[in-house]
Amino acid sequence: MASGDAAAASLAGRRILLGITGSIAAYKAAMLCRLLKTAGAEVRVVMTPLAKQFITPLTMATLSKNPILVEFFDPENGAWNSHVALGEWADCYVIAPATANTLAKMATGVADNLLLTTYLSARCPVVVAPAMDLDMYAHAATQQNLRTLADRGVRIVEPAEGELASGLSGKGRMAEPDTIAAFLGGLLAEKKKTLNGKRLIVTAGATIEAIDPVRFISNHSSGKMGYAIAGELAARGAEVTLISGRTALATPPGVERVDVLSAEEMYEAATSAFDEADGAVMCAAVADYTPAEVSDTKLKKGDGELFIRLRRTHDIAAELGARKGSRLLVGFALETDDEQAHAESKLERKNFDFIVLNSLRDAGAGFQGDTNKVTLIDRSGREELPLMSKREVAARIADRIETFFTR
Ligand code: CTP
Repeated sequence: MASGDAAAASLAGRRILLGITGSIAAYKAAMLCRLLKTAGAEVRVVMTPLAKQFITPLTMATLSKNPILVEFFDPENGAWNSHVALGEWADCYVIAPATANTLAKMATGVADNLLLTTYLSARCPVVVAPAMDLDMYAHAATQQNLRTLADRGVRIVEPAEGELASGLSGKGRMAEPDTIAAFLGGLLAEKKKTLNGKRLIVTAGATIEAIDPVRFISNHSSGKMGYAIAGELAARGAEVTLISGRTALATPPGVERVDVLSAEEMYEAATSAFDEADGAVMCAAVADYTPAEVSDTKLKKGDGELFIRLRRTHDIAAELGARKGSRLLVGFALETDDEQAHAESKLERKNFDFIVLNSLRDAGAGFQGDTNKVTLIDRSGREELPLMSKREVAARIADRIETFFTR
């Protein structure tokens, strides 16, 4: 089966909630609705009040074969349109077109129409297809809102370049309906619960090693890669315990999170959870050294140099590697030089099944960004992946984990 056919097949029988906002691209929502219905999906439509100016509820009701929802209450009979029930009904909520205004409201949690309250209560994957003028799309506020939404797990179908309603030409034109339908098909195919019944640990983020009550030693890890992996594994049905150092990230849906600070605390949490687990993904940036003595009171400065004696921390990955048996263990290596050789030596030393190598020399890879460029290395070879979003990298790692469990 071609991959497009596979995507279409995964739409059959799925429940798709289509949100339409007030953009000239709303006419394309009619085509999207048709494509989804033709692929066998059940479609319900929620519109913002302004969207009705761009496409009629009658058109959408006819195409979706369901009444259109706009208001919180039916003005005729006072019946309540439950946003919670809609969110629970859907396997996927796609907002296409999504205006700059709606994206901003989603990012800040504004709940002044049914489309937005449904977003806030939806537990299913949410997809947005932005549509707006090129300058609005490029504006720092819109870009920030899109990043915020992406960090919270919203999937974005990027707009295309082309002629815009304003007469200008540039990026902002909503993706074509067939592109959005294929994206939804791919997303719903991914969501098959291939890791049902597996218990997996993910470590993520930076540890904090106290020097005194005020200062600490840490590193630049944002935790984004580990959180993306935890979310992806949970979406595939695994029971995930995310052992997290300090990050500013929201817990991915369906993940149990254990917050720790120091390498020692992470070691305790990881080693005790590993007994009951089927495997672990070691994504945390764990401090290798911690102050040998922690002062109870704030250290006062003197005139001369200050020396802080450091002692080694536990190597959590190596400890799990020594006792892993047939369980899965995935490691990470962040290198700045001689990357391949260092990563291969860690694969052996820590008894990983495979290791994910990041090089700080690659543009777009590293700590705070949303993209990564990695090489997956195991004992049979290496697979160099192109620059992709951390979410896509997480999906590729999850694919390998699936393969490990189906050997
Ligand atoms: N790791 C761990 N516990 C530690 C150190 C590292 O679990 N105390 C894990 C990381 O989560 C990662 C892998 O081991 O999966 C990275 O190993 P390594 O590169 O040895 O960590 P570094 O501290 O970066 O090693 P080095 O300084 O030798 O490059």
